Amino acid sequence: MKKVRKLYEGKAKIVYETENQNCLIVEYKDEATAFNGAKKGKITGKGVINNRVTNHLMQILEKENISTHFIKEISEREAVVKNVKIIPLEVIIRNISAGSFSKRYGVKEGIIFDSPTIEFSYKNDNLGDPLINEYHALALNIASQDEIDRIKNMAFKINDILKSYFKRVEVDLVDFKLEFGKTLAGEIILADEISPDTCRFWDSKTHKKLDKDRFRQDLGNVEEAYAEMMSRIIKN
Ligand code: TMP
Repeated sequence: MKKVRKLYEGKAKIVYETENQNCLIVEYKDEATAFNGAKKGKITGKGVINNRVTNHLMQILEKENISTHFIKEISEREAVVKNVKIIPLEVIIRNISAGSFSKRYGVKEGIIFDSPTIEFSYKNDNLGDPLINEYHALALNIASQDEIDRIKNMAFKINDILKSYFKRVEVDLVDFKLEFGKTLAGEIILADEISPDTCRFWDSKTHKKLDKDRFRQDLGNVEEAYAEMMSRIIKN
C-alpha cells in the first residue's frame, strides 16, 4: 500500500489517500499540543508509541466484536485504516473524575464513579470543540438518533473491555476520548486512536499519571510515561 496524496494534517497525525479508495494511511507525529493548540511541544517517540498502542488496542477490541477502522500496521509510525467519514463528535467516557470534569463541576480528581459517564464535544477546532448534548447533535445534523444510540452502546462496551484489559496491567483507565466513522455502507465503526494522548492512565498502585497530562501539566518524564504504557500494553 502506497501513499498517493496528503488528505489531511491534524495536530498529531497525517492522513494520506492510497491507490485503494477504501483505504487510508495514517502517520503518527511526535508533535504534541494541548488546550486546543495553545500549548505546543514535542514528545520524542510519541508517534511510534501511539501507532503501536492504538493498533494493539484496536485488535483487542476487534476480538471482542467491536468493528474498528484498523487494517494493518505498515511501519513504526504508519497504519492502513478503512476510509470512513469521521462523525464530528468527540465521545468522552469517564470512570474517575479528572481534567475538565473536575474543573467544570468543582470536584477533586480521583473520585471513582458508581457508573461511567459519557459526554460529547462537537469536533470543531475553530469553536474549541464545544460540549454538546444529543439534541444539539441532532439539530446540527451531526448524526441520527440511531447512530447516536449505536455510538453510545459501542463506547460503553469499549469502556468495559478496556477497563478490564488495563486492570491486568495495573493501570486505572480514568477517562478517554473516542471518535467514530461511517463506512460507505453506513456502518458505524471505531476510528481515530486510543493512546496516552487520548486516554488518562493512572498506575493502579501509585496513581502516577502515565499519559498526556504529564505534558499538559508540565509534570516531567513525559517520554518515560509513554514508554512505560507501551511496554505494559504490548507485553500483555
Ligand atoms: P478532558 O478532561 O480534558 O475533557 O479530557 C477527557 C479525555 O479526553 C482525556 O482522556 C483526554 C481526552 N482528550 C482528547 O483526546 N482530546 C482532546 O482534545 C481533549 C480535550 C481531551
